[in-house]
Amino acid sequence: MELPPLLFLSFCFLTLSGRTFAAESGPPDSRVIVMEDDDVILPCSLSTNENIEKALFVWKKEGTVPLKVVFMFDPSIYSKGQDDEFKDRVSHFPGELKYGNASIRMNKTQLADQGNYTCSFPVTQPSVKTSRIELVVGAARKPYVTILKDKGLLQCEVPGAFPKPTVEWKDSNGKTLPSKMVQDEEEQGRFHLTIQTTVTDPGCYRCIATQMEKWHQISSEICVHDGPPVIVKEGDDAILPCSVYDKRNIESMPFNWKKVGPAGQKVIFLYDPGNDGRTSQDEQFRGRVSHFSDKLKNGNASITIKNTKSTDNGKYICSFSDRNLPVFLHVDAASGNVMIRATFISVTFGITGIVAVLTFL
Ligand SMILES: *[C@@H]1O[C@H](CO)[C@@H](O)[C@H](O)[C@H]1NC(C)=O
Ligand SMILES: *[C@@H]1O[C@H](CO)[C@@H](O)[C@H](O)[C@H]1NC(C)=O
Ligand SMILES: *[C@@H]1O[C@H](CO)[C@@H](O)[C@H](O)[C@H]1NC(C)=O
Ligand SMILES: *[C@@H]1O[C@H](CO)[C@@H](O)[C@H](O)[C@H]1NC(C)=O
Repeated sequence: MELPPLLFLSFCFLTLSGRTFAAESGPPDSRVIVMEDDDVILPCSLSTNENIEKALFVWKKEGTVPLKVVFMFDPSIYSKGQDDEFKDRVSHFPGELKYGNASIRMNKTQLADQGNYTCSFPVTQPSVKTSRIELVVGAARKPYVTILKDKGLLQCEVPGAFPKPTVEWKDSNGKTLPSKMVQDEEEQGRFHLTIQTTVTDPGCYRCIATQMEKWHQISSEICVHDGPPVIVKEGDDAILPCSVYDKRNIESMPFNWKKVGPAGQKVIFLYDPGNDGRTSQDEQFRGRVSHFSDKLKNGNASITIKNTKSTDNGKYICSFSDRNLPVFLHVDAASGNVMIRATFISVTFGITGIVAVLTFL
């Protein structure tokens, strides 16, 4: 879920109303979280709700001596002594003063704004801090998602995030997919993370970066589509593609092709270097299917189906060990006096050679 900026702006763990004590060493009265470049309200109110239109109040940021002045409301002189860092970025709410509300708005927060801020009334309540707020500034840009076609991988990059997010890939059912961290670096307080995952089905996948115990999430989606159809006429030969992305030699690796139908799977081709008896091959395909023996050394497990028929229509799976690549073969038997056309659709998710990744990683 991506929270709109307004939510960042108004979010705080507890709203403080004029508690009039806070030691600088103790825990802050409340914490406000904002994402970099968003605006934020730092809350401060007198519990008495007394009118402060004529009162002086000052916001300071801890951490330097003297403390940096963030904002000063003086009924006579406006913004006196304000630190340059906050110039033209901080404002109060004039209409709220009569209700004792000395909250300020800080625009375009930066990571450097992180820190503890105190609001005080040096004239009316000189000895106490009226509120002490911890401001936490996070940074996150939308994850950048890509398909690495040559490797059959989905990649997600989260650049410059703070605090360090957890990053994961999920499928459209919200199930987390196993992924591999390929970059995990910190640079000037920002984290750069990249993860990769392999997918076995077309569909939409989401990369989610989560920060601060699920409080902040930002995600990007990528959809993996079916490959373009290969069209041949009925009676022609069809090549069903399946190959290993890194082009490694597969001469000694068994693989098989099956046709998936309502009644189960039919073996249409078996490549088994240790056992050449292709006994389990389905009747329908006997003598019609061959591989490219000279291409095995380049990782190419494609097959040819000769003399295609409209009954060849269906889904085919190319398998190495336990990993599968579905390939759809669709024969469009348009009626009429003209020749029937067969359409072969190979579904490789727009990724060539996904099998290799599935098989060898
Ligand atoms: C902060 O941003 C808001 C909304 O964009 C704007 O109305 C306001 O004037 C800005 N405040 C300052 C001090 O620039
Ligand atoms: C003070 O004013 C700000 C800005 O309008 C508002 O968000 C906040 O809720 C107010 N605080 C109180 C205690 O009313
Ligand atoms: C705010 O002060 C508390 C202790 O009072 C400290 O633990 C915390 O780190 C400070 N926050 C920041 C952002 O400096
Ligand atoms: C595999 O071999 C077939 C038949 O020669 C060819 O059509 C196909 O393009 C090859 N695949 C790759 C990825 O090289």
